[in-house]
Amino acid sequence: MPLEELRQLFAQVEVDIASGPIVPQVSLQNVRDHLASWYDFTKPMTLDDVTADVERMLRTWQVQVTHPRYFGLFNPSVTLASVVADTLVAMYNPQLASWRTSPAANEIERHTLAWLAGKFGFPADAAASFTTGGAEANLSAVLVALTRAFPEYGDGGLRTVTASPRIYLTHESHASFNKIAHMTGIGRQALRVVATDRNLEMDVEDLARLVTEDRRSGLTPLMVVGTAGTTAAGAIDPLPGLARFCKREDVWFHVDAAWGGAAILSPRLRGHLAGIEAADSITCDAHKWFSVPMGAGMFFCRHAAVVSEAFRAQTTYMPGKAAGSVVDPYTTSVQWSRRFIGLKLFLALAERGESGYVELIEHQARMGDLLRETLARAGWRIVNNTPLPLVCFTCNGLVASEFLGKLYERQIAWMSEVRLRRDPPVVRACITSFRTTASDIEWVVREMGRLAPHECEVSS
Ligand SMILES: Cc1ncc(COP(=O)(O)O)c(C=O)c1O
Repeated sequence: MPLEELRQLFAQVEVDIASGPIVPQVSLQNVRDHLASWYDFTKPMTLDDVTADVERMLRTWQVQVTHPRYFGLFNPSVTLASVVADTLVAMYNPQLASWRTSPAANEIERHTLAWLAGKFGFPADAAASFTTGGAEANLSAVLVALTRAFPEYGDGGLRTVTASPRIYLTHESHASFNKIAHMTGIGRQALRVVATDRNLEMDVEDLARLVTEDRRSGLTPLMVVGTAGTTAAGAIDPLPGLARFCKREDVWFHVDAAWGGAAILSPRLRGHLAGIEAADSITCDAHKWFSVPMGAGMFFCRHAAVVSEAFRAQTTYMPGKAAGSVVDPYTTSVQWSRRFIGLKLFLALAERGESGYVELIEHQARMGDLLRETLARAGWRIVNNTPLPLVCFTCNGLVASEFLGKLYERQIAWMSEVRLRRDPPVVRACITSFRTTASDIEWVVREMGRLAPHECEVSS
């Protein structure tokens, strides 16, 4: 593929986005009227015209998550290599359901996942697959844990399982587990919410108390979810303590490292993930801190045989299994037809090398530290505690929603509102772009000082 034109287009988009608005000013009616008037699909249009129009809509009618001042919800800026990968995937359209159909693509994914599994300290025979995102990886974990705990679950369904399985997590765990409890049939009430400490990390003593209490009541503890980088506050649950507890109690230990998992590559940060190597399963998203386009999650599980049991499938219309130690992904994962999700991580890793990735990740961690320090120096109160680049802050008299409204109106930055503990909403800012610079941060904090309410006493 000739790369030069794509490289130039990518560079141009980067410049246009960085110099344009972050937050769209468009109404629902604007968008619908435009679509209704341009696209009744009765007459063909030239590809150039449609492409130009769609690109205009994307440039003006969306929150620009790749903007250096988008301090948002884990949506990253993307690398050129990962965009090249997605272009190749769309063009060649490989089908990864079976190994025989796409040997190269399947082996590229296996190679990439095995490398990362090794970084997490997983054994070479662990199962791993790319998923659409973290929610699918978490779903896979619960399905596999249920299959191991209750061999009758797969064929007979939950009604043949006499136990009442329980999953232990905290208020800070990702809300996908509510949907997963619903989808797997264990029910939303199967989620047991464990208390957190003042850093919003799971309290292992409270976990022990709940598990003992549940066992006494005849319930069956199935899984503990430890989060490595919670969505709201970036908290890392005490993974070594949870690992020891789960081993002692024979409960599945799942680590949801959807965002924070990338820190495993960083010599400076990886110590904070200690304990992850003892997990039964891990969720880690490439489309978060690994800076590749959506959707690219990953599911790792040390019990390969149980994974094969949970997703077993057989039909005569699929190509037969190839000889040797290969797997057909449609028999070891949720999806059937399967896009070549892993190429964007493979290509980006191959281009930058591990050291390049470490630099990308540690740059964002440094920018997070700078944001925290600059805010504190200006008089803002920081209300979370994490080594990861996510800062929650407030000040006296701040109404977060009103403050954010002004921030968006002046196109200063995109941040979000979040409620921690039972306190009033605060502002949440996460460094999600490797393009965010120290001067972006200093400028944003200065401008925010001008918008803060009087009683705040922050400086601009
Ligand atoms: C900790 C955590 N787990 C899981 C998810 C869900 O991931 P996805 O949106 O990729 O499905 C998220 C999303 O932000 C998350 O922060």
